[in-house]
Amino acid sequence: MAELSTNHLLGIKYITAADIELIFKTADQFKEVINRPIKKVPSLRDITIANLFFENSTRTKLSFELAEKRLSADVINFTAGSSSVKKGETLIDTVNNILSMKVDMVVMRHPNPGAGILLSKHIKASIVNAGDGAHEHPTQALLDCFSIREKLGDLHGKKIVLVGDILHSRVALSNIFALKKLGAEVKVCGPATLLPKHIGQLGVGVETNLRKALEWCDVANMLRVQNERMNMSFFPSTREYVLQYGLNKKILDSLPKEILVMHPGPINRGVEITSDVADSKQSIILQQVENGVAIRMAVMYLLASKLKHA
Ligand code: CP
Repeated sequence: MAELSTNHLLGIKYITAADIELIFKTADQFKEVINRPIKKVPSLRDITIANLFFENSTRTKLSFELAEKRLSADVINFTAGSSSVKKGETLIDTVNNILSMKVDMVVMRHPNPGAGILLSKHIKASIVNAGDGAHEHPTQALLDCFSIREKLGDLHGKKIVLVGDILHSRVALSNIFALKKLGAEVKVCGPATLLPKHIGQLGVGVETNLRKALEWCDVANMLRVQNERMNMSFFPSTREYVLQYGLNKKILDSLPKEILVMHPGPINRGVEITSDVADSKQSIILQQVENGVAIRMAVMYLLASKLKHA
């Protein structure tokens, strides 16, 4: 049986194109399962998974939990706000205490970049990064690419633009790694202040004019402005941002070809995109959320297979 090249999912940077294709093929099967009347399989009934969320989440947390339940895993949930982290416990102590309860896999969201990488060096359980600061959000990129593949087929040669706050976005970095590994052409577009200085070194085009970027692309992934990660102003005002980088129906309808519109959520309606764009037939935002469950089932199933064969 084909298997992943890694025991953890710490970032898209650390997996291969073959790993991504294997995750997609496995997710195809799980997508079929979750659309059946009985949406559950017994695949992980001997596996215990801890969801450790040190940072807020709606979609990712619910999606992982649902994926774990669909796979029949035993699940425990932890959120930092109500834990002993507030009393000064270190990350490794917290996780080791949880692991002593015989946990096989840890799904972790953490505000610090590299938190999952650190953990993987100290503990035996398989780690899945559910977002680490402004570093990576690998399952988001996998579900984004899977959703594009579902609509447009093979990603090779497809033109994808990531719009907005690239500087603070873990979704952008993971998407860039995934899209490039799958052979897509990638551009980033946003105000110069929200584009990392050396982003071009990742093999992506850089554009500050939204219309030009939209005229070039097949897919626009409109990223959230991450106000919570900004300790200063990166643009004069929200109104200014909306005027320059917001996607509205008038712009969408005036493009020479029909493009797909994506957003990882949570959406600031009226900022990155207007409601009529979010709810338009070109938007695949809810398909992204649906595909997230199948992708996370695939990732955890494949990592658990490695645990069983270790
Ligand atoms: N897309 C995403 O990561 O959303 P949440 O922060 O709600 O998990």
